Amino acid sequence: MTSKVIRMSGVTKRYVGTVAVDNVDLELYEGEILAIVGDNGAGKSTLIKMISGAVIPDEGSIFVNGEKVNIKSPADSLRLGIETIYQDLALYPAMDLTTNIFSGREYIKHNLFGRLFNVVDKKKMKEEAQKALSKISFNMPWMKEKVENFSGGQKQAIAITRANIFSKNVLIMDEPTAALGVQESVKVLELIKEFSVRKAVKSIIVISHNMEHVIGLANRVIVMRRGRRVGAIDIDEYKKQDNMVKLQGKLVALITGLEFD
Ligand SMILES: Nc1ncnc2c1ncn2[C@@H]1O[C@H](COP(=O)(O)OP(=O)(O)OP(=O)(O)O)[C@@H](O)[C@H]1O
Ligand SMILES: [Mg+2]
Repeated sequence: MTSKVIRMSGVTKRYVGTVAVDNVDLELYEGEILAIVGDNGAGKSTLIKMISGAVIPDEGSIFVNGEKVNIKSPADSLRLGIETIYQDLALYPAMDLTTNIFSGREYIKHNLFGRLFNVVDKKKMKEEAQKALSKISFNMPWMKEKVENFSGGQKQAIAITRANIFSKNVLIMDEPTAALGVQESVKVLELIKEFSVRKAVKSIIVISHNMEHVIGLANRVIVMRRGRRVGAIDIDEYKKQDNMVKLQGKLVALITGLEFD
């Protein structure tokens, strides 16, 4: 049995008038890509935000590598080796690639005169950024270029690269292909797969509305509906049986709550 990198047990988050996430269990196994699917408002983003520290659960427990944790802020989550890429990416458009990758976590050059004269080590950061980018098969514009001139896919690739430099445990992505065209989506999906194969992180969680992307990328999928977990499907198992039509049907049935033949 593979070990669980993350386990959520009975997690609940309420807002006035809604239970965004209602008594949900989640397990993320080492080495897997887990997809979370469900209609708009199903509670997917709220669920992952409780792992990334952007939302604090009202009830329930979270375990990371078997230990109970208390994630009260994004910093807590980062310290646990969990990196989250939100849909809006949170990049700095007017800055270059290196600045975007290292913002908030700059390398500091210490010198003999003590703290007063410490400066950001731009050269080292640039080298690290180049090294990380050279590992991925993604065409990137010139390092000095402002990120606002990058394509959607290139921006997503920066966010993934940034996450990979700092994260050891888990990479979480909320709708990584939502804003992308067909070709860029394919490239970003390949990049995510590449990270998984290379074991750049232990496990990956991806939220997506695109069934084709989910089936192509993930090993397993958890389905949410109206705040509840309504099912989980072992995609690899269906792939072995080469029964994609049945898998799609089952997913749609779970997402909508309607049965299909
Ligand atoms: N900060 C908030 N305040 C009030 N209600 C919220 C808040 N965040 C989420 N909700 C509500 O909780 C429910 C779940 O929202 P959530 O964003 O998690 O859904 P989702 O599955 O990510 O949807 P989508 O696919 O549209 O991104 C929705 O009804 C939403 O309106
Ligand atoms: Mg969402």
